[in-house]
Amino acid sequence: MIDKAIEVMKNSYSPYSKFKVGAAVVLKNGEIITGTNIENASYGLTMCAERVALFTAYAKGYRKEDIELIIVAGEKIVTPCGACRQVIFELMDKEAKVILVNKLKEKQEYKVSDLLPIAFEL
Ligand code: THU
Repeated sequence: MIDKAIEVMKNSYSPYSKFKVGAAVVLKNGEIITGTNIENASYGLTMCAERVALFTAYAKGYRKEDIELIIVAGEKIVTPCGACRQVIFELMDKEAKVILVNKLKEKQEYKVSDLLPIAFEL
């Protein structure tokens, strides 16, 4: 699983930052859905790897109850940005794990609810 998140970093489209990020959403059925950061010349339109992977999982019809965990991989450990934390909070179970890894496979583990206390909810 961790290998998949690291491997997909090669597909990152990041000509501006040159900062490659990979993400892997691991489903309870064993399927792994990956994503990378996709940048844009209009910088604010950049989409982070975590959101690409989670949105892909949802677009395939999966929902939070189908998701076991998410792995985010970078050259160094990448902590999800605020926007991703909000998306992770809504699209994953509060008790699910977020695993952050670097290329050496050193890791940090958090619960979704640890990453964004007092999140915005409707
Ligand atoms: N990035 C991610 O893909 N995920 C994160 O959690 C943090 C940042 C990307 C966005 C941008 O393409 C690059 O890293 C530098 O900010």
